[in-house]
Amino acid sequence: MSCPIVVLISGSGSNLQALIDQSLQGKLDVEIKAVISNKADAFGLERAKKANIPNHALSHKEFESREAFDLALQELIDQYQPKLVVLAGFMRILTETFTQHYEGRMLNIHPSLLPKFKGLNTHQRAIDAQEAEHGVSVHFVSSELDAGAVILQASTPIAATDNADSLAQKVHALEHVIYPLAVKWFSEERLILQQGKALLDGETLEETGVRYHQGLN
Ligand code: GAR
Repeated sequence: MSCPIVVLISGSGSNLQALIDQSLQGKLDVEIKAVISNKADAFGLERAKKANIPNHALSHKEFESREAFDLALQELIDQYQPKLVVLAGFMRILTETFTQHYEGRMLNIHPSLLPKFKGLNTHQRAIDAQEAEHGVSVHFVSSELDAGAVILQASTPIAATDNADSLAQKVHALEHVIYPLAVKWFSEERLILQQGKALLDGETLEETGVRYHQGLN
């Protein structure tokens, strides 16, 4: 049986599209039960519509508090009974109640080689820090921002000619490869969170997860 998932977005939804494409191509055995955006004008909602996936805009601005929004979001998600919640460019800080509710069953993708560059503007910060390489991480979500157990990372060298935009493009291409792969591992029950650590095929992963290379599946 396909693994039911719900995808949360705030913007373009290119990572959502990668998940849709891989599931349509039969490379990923998931059923995207719903796409939820906290922004009504997120292009990702159009992608969901085009793929006939139930989609919702739930604006955080209509709620008095972070707690009230997260509770409404949780209720909406849980109507779809997902096994996994996938944060794909969902740009909200989440309450501890919410993250605990989905402990071990919520993933995020973050555009840096964690634990480096948590938070925003990661591409420019990597250039400013004169890093030799930059990249992206998929991790389990914990109550601390961008700090849950890392599952999978992919990297790219930073060229002398790179700026934040060119680097973002390179990282995006990597995101579309590694996020579906991590979701696939979870859907195949090969990936779990145990006592705050990520385990793949029964092995505890290192702090920076698995480093992506071609042929990994
Ligand atoms: C992606 O680059 C993702 O890594 C980032 O938002 C972008 C969403 O792109 N997420 C974060 O920065 C989370 N802290 P998309 O809407 O095209 O998938």
